[in-house]
Amino acid sequence: MLTKFLRQQFVLFIAGIFLVSVLFACQENQITESPTATVSPVTQQTPLTTNSPPVAYPDRELTATPAQLPKLPYAYNALEKAIDAETMKLHHDRHHATYVNNLNEALQKHPELKNRSVEAMLRDLNNIPEDIRETVRNNGGGHLNHTIFWQIMSPNGGGQPTGEIAQQINQTFGSFDAFRKQFNEAGGDRFGSGWVWLVRNAQNQLQIVTTANQDSPIMDGLYPIMGNDVWEHAYYLRYQNRRPEYLNNWWNVVNWTEINRRSQAGLQQKV
Ligand SMILES: [Fe+2]
Repeated sequence: MLTKFLRQQFVLFIAGIFLVSVLFACQENQITESPTATVSPVTQQTPLTTNSPPVAYPDRELTATPAQLPKLPYAYNALEKAIDAETMKLHHDRHHATYVNNLNEALQKHPELKNRSVEAMLRDLNNIPEDIRETVRNNGGGHLNHTIFWQIMSPNGGGQPTGEIAQQINQTFGSFDAFRKQFNEAGGDRFGSGWVWLVRNAQNQLQIVTTANQDSPIMDGLYPIMGNDVWEHAYYLRYQNRRPEYLNNWWNVVNWTEINRRSQAGLQQKV
């Protein structure tokens, strides 16, 4: 009887030790495994531009592998009807070139971003590493905005709008004169440095907006059809502080053919 009692006690003792060991093992596992269980792995972000038309060019987005200064599509003095040759040279060769160089320098710190287009980075700024986010915003935006700017001007530009954009401007703003007045006023009212734009919004409507510094409309889900640069570097040599005069003369070089193309491209956007 006593032997049977001792055997039962022994079995219970062993079972107790086993149970306690299992509990400790579980606790250890919880401690060692919890960091990997709660920290999300760093994954490659999916570009958000997959379903959007290219913004920089008709057939492609703006590469950052590395970013390159595009050639001016005409001579420095080709736009004299609105902008003098010296301004064009400084604007393209120095200002735009600086945005390109600064963007490339920043991206050298994060080579994992180099396969992303400038458009993709600007649409997804919150997922750009914080140490280069502002640099990408300012210089990627500057690169994209100026790349568009050179294309929507032409020595053969100016005059009344042509094509479908002419009708859509009339429908939206009442007349070309009313549109031009509203666009110029928005550009004149943009405090400090920035841009004035005609954009297509997510509902495919035309809209005039302004952006500060080098921000791009695509950061707000808007497709830029045309934009005028109202930084002083765009006009100061000829116009000094007379920004309204610059805005008014700029219409003499507006490239309606390219603006019609961009307007159509913007219809395909999915934001
Ligand atoms: Fe500029």
